Amino acid sequence: MSAFKDNLLAGKTAFVAGGTSGINLGIARRYAELGARVAVCGRNPEKAQAAAATIGHGAIGLSCDVRDYAAIRGGLEQSVAKLGQLDIVISGAAGNFVAPALGMSANGFRTVVDIDLNGTFNVFRACYDLLKRPGASLIAITAGQAVNPSMFQAHVCAAKAGINQLIRVLAMEWGPAGVRVNGISPGPIANTEGMARLAPTPEAEKAITSRIALRRYGEVGEVAESAVFLVSDSARYVTGTILDCDGGSQLGDARDRTQGQGLAG
Ligand code: HXC
Ligand code: NAP
Repeated sequence: MSAFKDNLLAGKTAFVAGGTSGINLGIARRYAELGARVAVCGRNPEKAQAAAATIGHGAIGLSCDVRDYAAIRGGLEQSVAKLGQLDIVISGAAGNFVAPALGMSANGFRTVVDIDLNGTFNVFRACYDLLKRPGASLIAITAGQAVNPSMFQAHVCAAKAGINQLIRVLAMEWGPAGVRVNGISPGPIANTEGMARLAPTPEAEKAITSRIALRRYGEVGEVAESAVFLVSDSARYVTGTILDCDGGSQLGDARDRTQGQGLAG
């Protein structure tokens, strides 16, 4: 169920970095359904082609690594050549593995910071002159780990915290040109690579959902709806914000500890 009109994004062009699977693919798919021309990119060319085919609506799949500035700039230029000037850019590429800091090499830490944080800088820096004009909109995909420290996630916590500040700084610097910069912080989302890595068993999933106010994982489509809102005209005065689409996860541990005495309800 969506509150958005079918042609809401007609005439717009969107580039989704990391849009070849999971949450970002869901965002790309929703944008295309609402009339946008869409390009997605990831490292793996076959995966990118397959993602574009599942999106349909003339979407294109490109192969570039967000850690490589020249490569991402090239991908953005290809998108403009094929689909026209950009209106919307999403930076969602990310890497993660579960390891204590002492089990992480310097290269392991750097790899995740490079994909998530440096990758977001690269994508936004490289796209700016291809989209700068009033109405253009950027979204970075962050996570609750940016704010709440999480053991065995030193790389992700550091990288996503950096992304949150980058969003705010760029919103200030680029606001005068009418370019909005926002973030989305998804909670745990069902059927994603992220949660397969963080909670690989039904027991781990139950332990997580029992603490969330809404008592469930989110769905890819629910994050996509937030991503539609942020690029829509309804959000035209919204910039520098991070929208938590997380069922209340960031409010903290919402378990009822009253043992049924009703104090929580
Ligand atoms: C310790 C590890 C490790 C592990 C990799 N490394 N996995 N160290 N424990 N489990 C180390 C390697 O040993 C190496 O260090 C360094 O990390 C780089 O590894 P590579 O395999 O060479 O890197 P690369 O091929 O670039 O792959 C990047 C990756 C990989 C992040 C390691 O997992 C990946 O491609 N991930 C993309 C998909 C993904 O992670 N999706 C989930 C996003 S979810 P050395 O020193 O040996 O060279 C997400 C969740 C946020 O972001 C929050 C959710 C709630
Ligand atoms: P995912 O399916 O693994 O998606 C990651 C995407 O990024 C893929 O398209 C991947 O394609 C691409 N990618 C990875 N490294 C790249 C690189 N160096 N250059 C270019 N593209 C690269 O992940 P997900 O679980 O849906 O997560 C998507 C986003 O949501 C991430 O930013 C994540 O941090 C955030 N998030 C997820 C959750 C969750 O519950 N899953 C919760 C909070 C936040 P290739 O492998 O082909 O490169």
